[in-house]
Amino acid sequence: MNLQQVKIVVIGAGNRTNKYLEYAVRHPERLKLVGIVEPVEIRRRLVANKFGVPEEACFSSFDDFFANPIDADAVLIGTPEDKHYEPCMRAIEAGYHILLEKPIAQTKQECLDILEASKRKGVVVGVCHVLRFHPYFMKIKELVDSGELGEIISINHYAEINIDRMTHSYVRGLWSKAKKTNPMLIAKCCHDIDFLLWICGSKCRKVSSFGSLRWFRKENAPEGSAERCIDCKAEASCPFSAVHLYKERKQWIRNFDVPEGQTIDDVIDKELRKGVFGRCVYHCDNDVVDHQIVNMELEDETTISFVVNAFTCNDFRGTHIKMTKGEIDGNETTLRVRKFRGNEETVYDFSDLSNQPFHAGADLNIVEEFVNSITRSSEGVLSSTIESSIESHVVCYEAETSRLTNQTILIE
Ligand SMILES: NC(=O)c1ccc[n+]([C@@H]2O[C@H](COP(=O)([O-])OP(=O)(O)OC[C@H]3O[C@@H](n4cnc5c(N)ncnc54)[C@H](O)[C@@H]3O)[C@@H](O)[C@H]2O)c1
Repeated sequence: MNLQQVKIVVIGAGNRTNKYLEYAVRHPERLKLVGIVEPVEIRRRLVANKFGVPEEACFSSFDDFFANPIDADAVLIGTPEDKHYEPCMRAIEAGYHILLEKPIAQTKQECLDILEASKRKGVVVGVCHVLRFHPYFMKIKELVDSGELGEIISINHYAEINIDRMTHSYVRGLWSKAKKTNPMLIAKCCHDIDFLLWICGSKCRKVSSFGSLRWFRKENAPEGSAERCIDCKAEASCPFSAVHLYKERKQWIRNFDVPEGQTIDDVIDKELRKGVFGRCVYHCDNDVVDHQIVNMELEDETTISFVVNAFTCNDFRGTHIKMTKGEIDGNETTLRVRKFRGNEETVYDFSDLSNQPFHAGADLNIVEEFVNSITRSSEGVLSSTIESSIESHVVCYEAETSRLTNQTILIE
C-alpha cells in the first residue's frame, strides 16, 4: 500500500471545505493543506491558523493563485457553483487533481467541458456526491447489488427539504437565484438523481418534470407585511420569520462570520437589519422552484418518480424500491427489506447514525477515496469521478428543460 501524502490547496474556505479538511486533521500523514484561496479574510485567516499555512500560500483570488501556483498535488474546490467552472478548468490545465463540490458547474456544456478536459489531461476530478459514501445509502446499494431481491422495476424517491432550510438557502440565501448558482433541482437534488442512477446501474433515456415557485413571491405576502421581518406587523404569526429563525431559535447561524470584537448576537442583529437573511420571504429576489417532480425511464425500463418537497418539517430522503423478488423501503433512519416469498422482513436501524457529523462520516470517506485514488493506493478508487457523476447532471439539466418547455426529453 502506498501511503504517500497528498498536498492540497483549497479554493473557497467556507462550510463544505472545512468539513472535508477534517480529514487532514485526523490523517495529517495522508493529507496536508498547503494553500488557501478565499476572498473573505476572516475565513482565510481561521483556516490558515488552524493548519499553519504560511501567508505567502494564502490568496484572496484564484487569479493570484494560478499566477503563482504552489507545489501541490490537488485542489479542493468548495466555492459557490458560479465559481466552479473557471477554477476547475484552470486547475485541470495546471495539472492538479481536483475534488470538486457538486454541482459540477452551471450548464450541461460546462460539465461536459470539464469531463473532456480532465480526460485530455489525465487528472482525477472527483465530484462530492457524498451519498455514495454514506453508510445508509451504501447499504441500499449493497442490498440492490446482492441480487437477493431480483431486479429493480420501479422506484419512488423523495427529498424532504425542511422549511427552514428552504427559506434560508433557496429563498433568502445562496441558492435562491438559478442564474447565480443553479436551478434547485441541480443545486440540491443532483445528489438524489446521482444516487438513483448509481443504484440502478442503467442510463436514463427519458425524463419529464413539473414544478414552479408557487408560494415565495410577493403576491402571497400577508397584508401590511414589510420588506424586513424586524419591521413587519405580521412577524409574530409568520412561520417564515427571520427574527424567529435566527434571533430566537438561533438556527442556521453557523455560517455567519463573527468579526473580532463582536458577538454572534451583534451579527444576527445586523443581518436582520441589513443582510440578505433579514428579508421577508415574500419580498426576496428568489426565482428557484419551491416544489418539483421528476419522472424518469431508464434504458432497462426501470421507472423512477422523484418528488422534492419543501413545505415540511422533515429533513431527509425517502426511497421505496420495488424489485422482482421484494422491496426496500427507507427514510434514512430505518431501512426495511421485505421478500415476497415467505414474507421475510429485515429492518436495519440507522437512527444512531442519521445525526452523526460530517454526513455520518461520508465527508471524510470521500476525501479518503480521493486521496487513495490519486496516490493509486491499493485501498480503492474513487467511485464518484466526473465520468460516473456527469449523467446525473445531464439528467437534471434535461429535467429543467422539460419543466420549462412542457416536453418529455429523450436523452441520447
Ligand atoms: N456535497 C454536499 O453535500 C454539499 C452540501 C452543501 C453545499 N454543497 C456545495 O458546496 C459548495 C459550497 O457551499 P458552502 O455551503 O460551503 O458555501 P460557503 O458560502 O460556506 O463557502 C463557499 C466559500 O467560497 C468562497 N468564495 C466565493 N467566491 C470565491 C472565489 N472567487 N474564490 C475563492 N473562494 C471564493 C466564499 O467566500 C466562501 O467562503 C456549493 O457548490 C454547494 O452547492 C455541497
